[in-house]
Amino acid sequence: GKGEYDHFMLKEIHEQPTALAQALEGRIDPENARISLGDFEPGTFEDVSSVQFVACGTSYHAALYGSLTLKQAGIQSDALLANEYSVSAPPIDEETLVVAVTQSGETADTLNALRHAAAEGATTVTVTNVVGSTAARAADEALFIRAGPEIGVAATKTFSSQAVMLTLLGQRIVEDQFGEPAVDFETFLPELATMPSALDDILVRSDAEAIANRYEDSQSYFFIGRGLGFPVALEGALKFKEITYEHAEGFASGELKHGPLALVTPETPVFAVFTGEEDEKTLKNASEAQTRGAPLVAVCPEGHRAVDVADAHLEIPETVPDLAGLLANVQLQLVSYYAADALDRPIDKPRNLAKSVTVE
Ligand code: M6R
Repeated sequence: GKGEYDHFMLKEIHEQPTALAQALEGRIDPENARISLGDFEPGTFEDVSSVQFVACGTSYHAALYGSLTLKQAGIQSDALLANEYSVSAPPIDEETLVVAVTQSGETADTLNALRHAAAEGATTVTVTNVVGSTAARAADEALFIRAGPEIGVAATKTFSSQAVMLTLLGQRIVEDQFGEPAVDFETFLPELATMPSALDDILVRSDAEAIANRYEDSQSYFFIGRGLGFPVALEGALKFKEITYEHAEGFASGELKHGPLALVTPETPVFAVFTGEEDEKTLKNASEAQTRGAPLVAVCPEGHRAVDVADAHLEIPETVPDLAGLLANVQLQLVSYYAADALDRPIDKPRNLAKSVTVE
């Protein structure tokens, strides 16, 4: 049941610290600066020359996140919409690793992409929440995110767990390729180990409800971010439109000036995600929207320069850029939830949508 919560979505948002702790259990060893991912022993991905992630919706945003961490580490990688894969897949051979990312493991588009890749000779891995799902069985290997059942149609805790597991899988691939991880494990793993408590901090202290109420009469809601903040902006907008039925869009911060700025008015709040990747540029892009009258909501740590400039602030604990976006995402989940709640939407079952989409 929903327990003390009004909706499964809110319950699942609050389950994130536990879900993440479960995902990390036995998989990271901060003291010895090591990761261990069950079946994937060191060397498993030695021969991989490129990585293609295939997914839809929120899982696609997690895939963008994972793919970007790989690219930043110097590995050829792309996140691809599974529903576009049959018309747009890059070349595949035996050295291609195709990673299907799917909470349910039953999404038809993702299964099709996975099967296509396997038929072309790729090595396949499924990252999923559901043991025994079709996608878990259809791939060479499966990596389980262990988030526990997700009932709300809007994916919340599974995004966080997917993004973290994809980052760990990525680091294993990098280690296998280059003999060492791309990030300094002595900093990164202890930081990762503190994520459940960082999430807890956000859940206890978030101002998301007040901010959702403050901007509830707006016309459109924009979400911007750069680097790992970009998939978070896309996810923020997807969640917002899915459960509030209000218009929302996510952009790369730098894209605003290439068109979307024409839409910006005092009726279009802009939520800007700061991850520590060229934040100055993001702040400049956000300020341009603010100059046109848009209220600016900065999602960033206390003491960040954006706090002084913005009209409102959603605080996230200080962390490394690889993880900051995940914290920001939780604040945006809460904004969507409270905005939808104020509008009295059927939050757990938005109109026209299904939890798992088993048709093409
Ligand atoms: O089960 P999957 O992760 O494959 O589902 C993919 C999408 O249908 C799903 O993430 C959808 O976008 C969510 N309802 C978004 O909250």
